[in-house]
Amino acid sequence: MKPVKVGICGLGTVGGGTFNVLTNNAKDIARRAGRDIIIEQVAMRHPNPAVEIGSVKTTEDVADVISNPDIDIVVELIGGYTVAKDVVMGAIENGKHVVTANKALIAVYGSEIFAAAEAKGVSVMYEAAVAGGIPIIKAIREGLAANHINWLAGIINGTGNFILTEMRDKGRDFADVLAEAQALGYAEADPTFDVEGIDAAHKLTILASIAYGIPLQFEHCYTEGISKVAPEDVEYAEELGYRIKHLGISSRTEKGIDLRVHPTLIPEHRPIAKVDGVLNAVTVNGDAVGDTLYVGAGAGAGPTASAVVADIIDLARTLEAPASASVNHLAFDSESIDNLRVLPIEQVETAYYLRIQVQDRTGVLASIATTLSEHDINIEALIQKEPRMENDLAQIIILTHKVEEARMNAAIEAVESLDSTHGKITRIRVEHLD
Ligand code: HSE
Repeated sequence: MKPVKVGICGLGTVGGGTFNVLTNNAKDIARRAGRDIIIEQVAMRHPNPAVEIGSVKTTEDVADVISNPDIDIVVELIGGYTVAKDVVMGAIENGKHVVTANKALIAVYGSEIFAAAEAKGVSVMYEAAVAGGIPIIKAIREGLAANHINWLAGIINGTGNFILTEMRDKGRDFADVLAEAQALGYAEADPTFDVEGIDAAHKLTILASIAYGIPLQFEHCYTEGISKVAPEDVEYAEELGYRIKHLGISSRTEKGIDLRVHPTLIPEHRPIAKVDGVLNAVTVNGDAVGDTLYVGAGAGAGPTASAVVADIIDLARTLEAPASASVNHLAFDSESIDNLRVLPIEQVETAYYLRIQVQDRTGVLASIATTLSEHDINIEALIQKEPRMENDLAQIIILTHKVEEARMNAAIEAVESLDSTHGKITRIRVEHLD
């Protein structure tokens, strides 16, 4: 069979990894695809020292790649929303299939991109956009296609998981760990995307869409970062039998779709609680299959290239097949996408961890318990920490049962206004994932 020709746009960490995997594993890849896959051209601004470019044609202008008549598949590995979007839309316009690792682009502009691709009869593949090397898109879109998916939850940002793990295990400083994640090539160009949960929200938006057959709704995803997680919260959570993870969580409820990213206490015996370092993990519950768990590297050259190249192989295998033979971009037929509403965070129900700083005097605990009970909030566990130094404040740590967020907000406001309470209450949501 005629070889398939690929044009790569971007030769950074992921572009370099993709070049090397396609080159180093060319024999096995050809055996899987049933034909050779050749890198025809690379658009790059700077050489990548990890890549021996050899005789492959290079250009500084992405337009050369998307208009190259010899190229069948354009691989967009630039990132961001500007040039990357032009590359993807331009390639589609020129009738080329696209592979991208760009979660931001898919989460924000996916609907427009997929509509353009469907009109042209080409495919846009994006396995590498979520959880790097874990084939989670394929697992949900194809492997679990028989199921009514009930919920999913994931550690889908390696940088954030690395920071929380190092804080817990080594008591390391936040900024120091972040700098290491940047040096290792895990962090986004703008690391606030990692730390503030935006990167995870992009990925969760995509997962929810293919799990339930709903439109991509990044703008409705509630997002809270890990920059305010204090070392004492990590310590107290452990004392209560929990770990703090930065989770993306989504479920179907009777009121709508729950879609949120925030630091979360999860019971330490849950397998996902033990996924540490830069690893990612996603757990998906389907009505037929029950709970499933996928763990692996979520970032880095090799793992992300593994997903990019798998998409290239899939396309190469079906290049001459009619468009109707391809898997739907968002797993469900575009005619049957269900416009379910995403719940505002105030309507979401979860359990809570509260850390309240109080003066150490008689009746304080009773007044907090009374205030919570007046808001119909049920306490599950409670510990009190004596002041560590003279004139210091005592800390009361409370775990509650599930309650709607709006009610918890009102209760927090009431407790904060008690005379004995100092400053703001720390609130972290708790999920049991059962
Ligand atoms: N910055 C991302 C992470 C890279 O840390 O997980 C992979 O999307």
